[in-house]
Amino acid sequence: MAQPATINFTRGVPADESLPVSELVEAARAALDTHAARVLQYGPSTGFAPLREWLAQWLGVEPARVLTANGSLQLIEFVCLGLLAPGDVVFTESPSYDRTLTLLRRHGAKVVGIPLEADGPNLSALEAQLRRSVPKLFYLIPDFQNPSGATCSGAKRRRIAELAERHGFLLLEDAPYRLLRYRGSQEPTLRELAPDVTLHMSSFTKLIAPGIRTGFLAGPERLVTKLAKIAEDTYISPGYLAQGVAYEWCRQGRLPGQIEKLKALYAPRLDACLSAIDRELAGVAPTRPDGGFFISITLPERTTTTAVREAAASRQLNLADGLAFFPDGGGERFLRLPFCALAPAEIDEGIRRLAEAIEAVRRAG
Ligand SMILES: Cc1ncc(COP(=O)(O)O)c(C=O)c1O
Repeated sequence: MAQPATINFTRGVPADESLPVSELVEAARAALDTHAARVLQYGPSTGFAPLREWLAQWLGVEPARVLTANGSLQLIEFVCLGLLAPGDVVFTESPSYDRTLTLLRRHGAKVVGIPLEADGPNLSALEAQLRRSVPKLFYLIPDFQNPSGATCSGAKRRRIAELAERHGFLLLEDAPYRLLRYRGSQEPTLRELAPDVTLHMSSFTKLIAPGIRTGFLAGPERLVTKLAKIAEDTYISPGYLAQGVAYEWCRQGRLPGQIEKLKALYAPRLDACLSAIDRELAGVAPTRPDGGFFISITLPERTTTTAVREAAASRQLNLADGLAFFPDGGGERFLRLPFCALAPAEIDEGIRRLAEAIEAVRRAG
């Protein structure tokens, strides 16, 4: 009998079918036809100037407040290099994006997790931590968080902005999923609420393609200047050819249509995943995001993510370890389910296999 196909509920990547290939071919031709000498040369470390200006206008800030880099993860690395010294305290949500936790630790930061709830960080825990130590920065993913899927409420954003201003710490707002809202209305960004203490980041990874490797940051000019110097000392200039392609694609007005296409592709996948969980996993309460790439669940008692992953692997279902998302322990029963790169039928089958794996672990325990 043929083996059932493997289902990967592991990585938060865009669906292959979402990639705007023919538009990018056209944009690449236009970039080389129009700007060859600039996109094939070195240039300022802040990025290809027309793209920087386009982003500034789009974000509603001066170009001097915008920095681009080869992906937003690299911007986090520059923030660590520029603003952190070993031993500095950094707050993150708990759970948080594991690659950021790795970078923070690599730079010797003392990472303190603030427990995350369905509507954002637990504010009592945040205020209690602030009485112990004021961090250098607080890293947050307020919209459709990776890995939990939680979105921070407007009230919590306002309180966090106030606390940052009052205590004098920076907010590193990572918002790559913000525009992928399938329903409901947007909350203000932290940058809108506290522009002088917020570094707001996003990326074209989820909106165009990861391979375009273009992330961007908007923040206070003195910090942007400092980070731009670190960028220059790291790679002289970012990938101008990719930035030229991204610029032409944006200039041709492709972004709004692409966002609508992504929403039309991903919203049914979110719904399929939530319905399958409700149907197959009785008693498990998932996060119920209105957008983004991720749903998360807490597995039933008497199971662990480690054991369920093993049982799932023997059913051709790959799951990600939950532990790496937790800065200071916990997460033994946490499971992140990235739904965007799977078709609804694969999601249904994947959740069915997950239910079987959970049941097998419970029976064995
Ligand atoms: C919250 C968050 N920040 C940053 C990144 C990195 O994105 P980029 O490809 O722009 O480096 C990701 C990618 O999954 C992410 O989820």
